[in-house]
Amino acid sequence: MRSMKVNLDKKSSSSYEIRIGYKIVDRMMLIISKNFKANRYVLITDNSVGSIYAKQMMDSFKDVGLNINRIEFSAGESSKNINTVMDIVGKLLEIGADRGTMLIALGGGVVGDMVGFIASIYMRGIPYIQIPTTLIAQVDSSIGGKTAIDLPVGKNLLGTFCQPCAVFADLMFLETLPQKEFNNGLAEIIKYGIIDDEKLFRLLSENMDAVKNRDSVVLLKIVENCCRIKKSIVEIDEKEQGLRRLLNFGHTLGHAIEAVSKYTISHGEGVALGMIAAARISEKMRYLDLTQLKRIEEIILQAGLPGKIPQNFSTADIMSRLVMDKKKKDDIVNFVLLKKIGMPFVHGGIDDKIINDVIEEMK
Ligand SMILES: NC(=O)c1ccc[n+]([C@@H]2O[C@H](COP(=O)([O-])OP(=O)(O)OC[C@H]3O[C@@H](n4cnc5c(N)ncnc54)[C@H](O)[C@@H]3O)[C@@H](O)[C@H]2O)c1
Repeated sequence: MRSMKVNLDKKSSSSYEIRIGYKIVDRMMLIISKNFKANRYVLITDNSVGSIYAKQMMDSFKDVGLNINRIEFSAGESSKNINTVMDIVGKLLEIGADRGTMLIALGGGVVGDMVGFIASIYMRGIPYIQIPTTLIAQVDSSIGGKTAIDLPVGKNLLGTFCQPCAVFADLMFLETLPQKEFNNGLAEIIKYGIIDDEKLFRLLSENMDAVKNRDSVVLLKIVENCCRIKKSIVEIDEKEQGLRRLLNFGHTLGHAIEAVSKYTISHGEGVALGMIAAARISEKMRYLDLTQLKRIEEIILQAGLPGKIPQNFSTADIMSRLVMDKKKKDDIVNFVLLKKIGMPFVHGGIDDKIINDVIEEMK
């Protein structure tokens, strides 16, 4: 089992360990029972993850003598809302959960974001542990303490910053992850390779087949690298004032394409297209050289992610979706561009024509 510490400003939050490994549940239980004592634990998960893992996890808690309850909700982004929060809070009260209770988030980003949100407000805040089960959650959402639920007008509009007490990423969970969800995570991993680490980029391109086959040895190295990048960014910019924005590489246009597709394009596919677009814009604006652009396009295709925007998507619709986001952010579209692999920067004033041309060229 590998371990790394997220060192945060002691005044605002406490530091915590991320532990990563393959089949680490037994060791996880010993660590929880020794280091994270609570009167009661409540495992919160969604029904898909629950149907595969809840019994095993509940038994593991009981085996080390811990008092554990379980709450499940329907899987999917559509559950990440105030109604589910109220439902879970009602069940916590029924169980008798109090300030001596520890919540356990077992699942993907939806479970993690929502449990973190509840932990931050239930009885003015109780502790929680993240056990991420999707690739996205293992390399991204479980680290950094951003919690949120969606509102009818938009995603993640109600939330808090609330760090977990610990994160346990067991690669064993990835074995049952549906392919589409795995690919969503793959896009985020490639993003880390592009924005932060040429070495990770090379490791990924040299081992893409093993990654796609979910080889636990290769994945361990890669997940560990990604967690290290995410934790370093969070340590410098816990509340997303600056550096953390670089994690949005590929997401600006990616979100617009996802939205225009009415979410028939997955998050990972949107980010893949957004990353290619951001790299092409960087090249057109003479920041990035053509060889690096080709390497970025190649790795995305190698991963089995798309490189072309469907013909029938209107460029005007994608552009107007970008403008909608622009209105939210002081009339500026903040694109993360690249000077080279491993050297991203935020650019706030890109000519619409360049974006428009890149979208057209990508069809
Ligand atoms: N807080 C952050 O910093 C942050 C960062 C990125 C994303 N997010 C949020 O994360 C969410 C997306 O997360 P996600 O992609 O993990 O989605 P998710 O939690 O909806 O999980 C995707 C699907 O996979 C299933 N699943 C999860 N683990 C499984 C496993 N091991 N085996 C089989 N099925 C499994 C789930 O039941 C679900 O149906 C979004 O709401 C997004 O806003 C948050």
